[in-house]
Amino acid sequence: MRLTVIGTGYLGATHAACMAELGHEVLGVDVDPDKVAALSAGRVPFHEPGLPELIAKHTASGRLRFTTSYAEAGAFGDVHFVCVGTPQSADSGAADLAHVDAAFAALAAHAVPGALVVGKSTVPVGTAGRLARTHDVEIAWNPEFLREGFAVEDTLRPDRLVFGVATDRAETLLRAVYAPVLAAGTPLVTADFPTAELVKTAANAFLATKISFINAMAEVCEAAGGDVRTLAEALGHDDRIGPKFLRAGIGFGGGCLPKDIRAFAHRAEELGVSLAFLREVDAINMRRRDRVVELARELCGHDVLGARVAVLGAAFKPGSDDIRDSPALGVAARLRLEGADVTVYDPEAMDNARKAFPLLGYALTAEDALRGADLVLHLTEWPQFREIDPVRAARLAARPRIVDGRGTLDADRWAAAGWRFRAPGRPAPADEEQ
Ligand code: UGA
Repeated sequence: MRLTVIGTGYLGATHAACMAELGHEVLGVDVDPDKVAALSAGRVPFHEPGLPELIAKHTASGRLRFTTSYAEAGAFGDVHFVCVGTPQSADSGAADLAHVDAAFAALAAHAVPGALVVGKSTVPVGTAGRLARTHDVEIAWNPEFLREGFAVEDTLRPDRLVFGVATDRAETLLRAVYAPVLAAGTPLVTADFPTAELVKTAANAFLATKISFINAMAEVCEAAGGDVRTLAEALGHDDRIGPKFLRAGIGFGGGCLPKDIRAFAHRAEELGVSLAFLREVDAINMRRRDRVVELARELCGHDVLGARVAVLGAAFKPGSDDIRDSPALGVAARLRLEGADVTVYDPEAMDNARKAFPLLGYALTAEDALRGADLVLHLTEWPQFREIDPVRAARLAARPRIVDGRGTLDADRWAAAGWRFRAPGRPAPADEEQ
């Protein structure tokens, strides 16, 4: 089939490449000529494992092309996927739909009769219905659930597909698009527009709630002297709860969970439904950043003024160079404001971090960051940080003091190497020398 993908951010670029991998002819569309030029040359302007190889393969084969022209897109595609961003509005928690509205309007103006326009962007419930009433073109909604760092895998082998459709024809077209994925046994849920839109926001709200639940338990553990890592392990053995998304620490960040729960609460309130618990989910999440700052102060005496702080991690999670609403950089910036001399190291997100936080210091390697540090903060759990030898790290640092904001380091091993070790939700190791 001939498909277009509107928007070539991490969702759109991944969707375009994966649709080509499924055997379709794909035209990616973006208003940014630089992005189009980079992708056309097989270059991916962000870190996503497996994606550069797929883009290079299919731009070379001719099955995947990119353009800035909606007229070209309209003439090309049988099915158009809208993958543009829905950022948080500046004045409220609501989603800003300017890009979605512009993309649907442009496609409606240029699409050939019979084309199907499929929304994939995360939108407030009611958007698909409104667009269907506004534009003289058939619409469907097909939310995405891909995670940064696993975007290709999640697109080619998703947990489920959701088709929000108003006609059998729309469902048939979408079944044809995803035929190989469905043939592999992927569950399909077909739904009306509002339900399809809600699946996405409800899923992200549930994941955020699960993380904030375990982080609230971390607060209780701190007050009661318990250990949240052991608590989470024991909870996770219950099949009904499961072990995933129960990692307590510095909280969630990124371009999706934080903005999506705010937009969802806002939209529900517009509809007369209170989702006040999502405000609390948000508040717990932000408090975890405060807690890491408190632990940093505690380890440095009373404050961090003049302390040399090494921050390991800048991306909002490992496997990504995305720093949007990154808890790690949020904490790093706070400590700098409090007078610390902060040096950050991240394996992938250095360029993005430097652009957004030019006043922080940056090291070329983790070792360089550790050298001479009065305090180390482990804030993004890249696997290579787990490989750091605490004995060698103690020789590099000026003072062996560390906060494990992600709860993935071996506390006993670090304490045995002489480190004062603190982690949110966990007691200090028993044999630590004070
Ligand atoms: C999230 C969802 O997981 C995807 O299903 C969804 O499609 C995507 O948003 C989206 O809306 O586009 P993503 O933002 O890539 O994906 O990241 P996650 O893997 O969900 O992690 C989000 C944040 O939660 C990260 O900062 C991570 O460090 C944190 N997290 C995750 C925890 O603090 N604890 C956990 O146990 C799990």
